[in-house]
Amino acid sequence: MQILHTVPEIVAFRKAAQAAGKTIGLVPTMGALHEGHITLMRAARAACDVVIASVFVNPVQFGPHEDFDKYPRTFAADCEKLEAAGVDAVFHPEPADMYPEGYCTYVNVEGDIVHKLCGAQRPGHFRGVATVVTKLINLSGADEAYFGQKDAQQVVVVRRFVEDLNLPVHINMVPIVREPEGLARSSRNRYLSPAEKTAALVLFRSLKKARAAFDNGERDTSKLKQIVRDELATEKLAVIDYVELNAFPSLKPLPVVNQDALLAIAVKIGKTRLIDNIILEAR
Ligand code: PAF
Repeated sequence: MQILHTVPEIVAFRKAAQAAGKTIGLVPTMGALHEGHITLMRAARAACDVVIASVFVNPVQFGPHEDFDKYPRTFAADCEKLEAAGVDAVFHPEPADMYPEGYCTYVNVEGDIVHKLCGAQRPGHFRGVATVVTKLINLSGADEAYFGQKDAQQVVVVRRFVEDLNLPVHINMVPIVREPEGLARSSRNRYLSPAEKTAALVLFRSLKKARAAFDNGERDTSKLKQIVRDELATEKLAVIDYVELNAFPSLKPLPVVNQDALLAIAVKIGKTRLIDNIILEAR
């Protein structure tokens, strides 16, 4: 596996792949890799001739009071996992490679999809994501790019600007990977104490309760959201940030679930903010 640190290195790598007529798959990550990321790598490996992973903790998607400095950086361990997953190259730039002095261009998706759910609490977050992902798609020359459903809003935003900017890449959304007891895999799970980890199981439990009600015919959005809130309220360590149920993928409000919908939650367990979601399919 090649390690590419700079913009000229990744450009040379992808030009060689393109000259050889190979298809390129990109898996953007911020490192601290877990089984969820590795599932993305495997999906890329199965579909593309060349797989490029990026490991870059992107400063512009963190707010001033968020965990940028504290975000786990485990590059050596990440490389072992990427190599084992058959990744061909990892792009691991420094912030100054991506945002050199004088940098002043950002991709700003306008409209509702960036202001609700995680966007409401994290102003500027999706501007940072859209900017870095656009740069990574351009640099890697990706034909296919892979993102996890855990960040379903991110997938919606990425698909929006890819379509709006006519970027010639296909965006794949890969289902959430969970720990055996149901907690969605996340780089932030490592912040949880054992007691918090047990408490965090309430996220998926609450979503499953809503899914059971949906499967039994409940279509009222307020009632489905209340089922989630009631279950979350049973866990004293859980502090709700949001419980949202919107049309998927438009994220438009939905009083009655009569089309595919995203039931998404963000909950603080101690100091750690966790997100999870399920898609309710209208049949
Ligand atoms: O999902 C993430 O880890 C990040 O938002 C991404 C897509 C790698 C952009 O920095």
